[in-house]
Amino acid sequence: MKNAELWWSARSPEALIDTPALVTLWENDLIELVKHRNQPGERERALQSLGDLTKSLWQAFNTDREALDRDYMSSERHLSAYLSAFFIPNIERSRHILTRPTALEKLSALLQKETLSVLDFGAGPLSSTFGFVIALGEALAQTPAKNMKISQLKIIAVERSEKAVRMAENWLERCIAPGIQIDIERRTSVPADQKFEVVLASNVFNEIPQKHHLKTFKMLQKALRTEDTQTPSILLIVEPGQEIHSRHLVELRDQILQERSDLQLIAPCPHTSNCPLGASMNRPDWCWFRRTFKAPPFQLELDHRTQLDHQDLAFSYLLFAHEKQTCKNNAWAVCVSDPIPVGEQEGHQKRQVYFKSNKLAEIAAISDERIAHLALHGAKTKLCTHSGELIAGISEGVTSPLRHRRGDEITNGKEFELLVRER
Ligand SMILES: C[S@@+](CC[C@H](N)C(=O)[O-])C[C@H]1O[C@@H](n2cnc3c(N)ncnc32)[C@H](O)[C@@H]1O
Repeated sequence: MKNAELWWSARSPEALIDTPALVTLWENDLIELVKHRNQPGERERALQSLGDLTKSLWQAFNTDREALDRDYMSSERHLSAYLSAFFIPNIERSRHILTRPTALEKLSALLQKETLSVLDFGAGPLSSTFGFVIALGEALAQTPAKNMKISQLKIIAVERSEKAVRMAENWLERCIAPGIQIDIERRTSVPADQKFEVVLASNVFNEIPQKHHLKTFKMLQKALRTEDTQTPSILLIVEPGQEIHSRHLVELRDQILQERSDLQLIAPCPHTSNCPLGASMNRPDWCWFRRTFKAPPFQLELDHRTQLDHQDLAFSYLLFAHEKQTCKNNAWAVCVSDPIPVGEQEGHQKRQVYFKSNKLAEIAAISDERIAHLALHGAKTKLCTHSGELIAGISEGVTSPLRHRRGDEITNGKEFELLVRER
């Protein structure tokens, strides 16, 4: 599909959601929520209000989280702010993750179910559900026969705010492709008696005390359908890219992988050892990813007022699949940084010595002269490998457009001139 990342601007023939219509509904309803009726400059004033509300929610999220009511999403002010700043970017975060090659494969298999059951835990305005359904359309576009059996989407939204779910339900019902029936139910806890092919939990673990993360994960895992041997079930957790949230997610990952289960981690990690960027490694960096996004014009208009930047979306995530046959991420490594110049000129001799004594054997022989050159002019990308090691891939300078971006999967160490142990 061409320009899939501009999903909001045009509807492809296989799309399961009329995304331009969704964006129009989002824009109109947002303005309606804060409109100062029949006053001159109505739209301008609405935009101003949305900007002010967003700034105060942003402040509360980032500096005074404890003071925020548990049911903040039920306040019309906070809901408006959330929809202004997070709805579209969070659709994109889930969509992007679910359209990575390993995930698309699972989505293609899901297209063959007649009824798909989705559990959106901490659903808010169903951002992650929208991202998933848009990604399903992309999976359909990439399926050679372009056939799917889905005729019903049964969505359980576990969410405190009735208002957020009702608003999103209205949008989804009006934008879903003809021939697909939508059935949305809001619950305040995960139903114990239902099973789901898709479980989504985006940006909600950080609202749950860390000591309850494993218990919450197990509850979501239990909700996955596991008896169908033909179709995989998937479980996606998305969290913000900030250090504290990513580190908590990595801790959860390591705990999950220590417990033997049928669930397989398919992204982002190409291994199941402890995370080499985990807290016990005492490193200053952590595992997070980034997506460059061209947001719709109304989002840009809102961002202009709030000075928020939604062109570079940061996030951390874990994607699991449950299926009969073994499935895993087959990448040789995943980039856990963008390429950056190797460092200051002053340190290049020490760096050269380090490169020589810590180079890995996976790549072809390299001369001392070339190592010396790379120690001065090279670019380094941190790589998390299939054996669970953290190493540095060194190549000649930083290219434009960027090769080996954060999150890219590498099939072979030979993509780099030199591989060295990361200190
Ligand atoms: C930051 S929002 C995320 C919304 C959406 N998933 C997204 O990514 O845009 C977190 C949502 O989780 C809901 N939430 C948090 N803890 C919850 C719980 N224990 N039960 C139900 N909803 C919860 C909050 O009401 C809030 O709407």
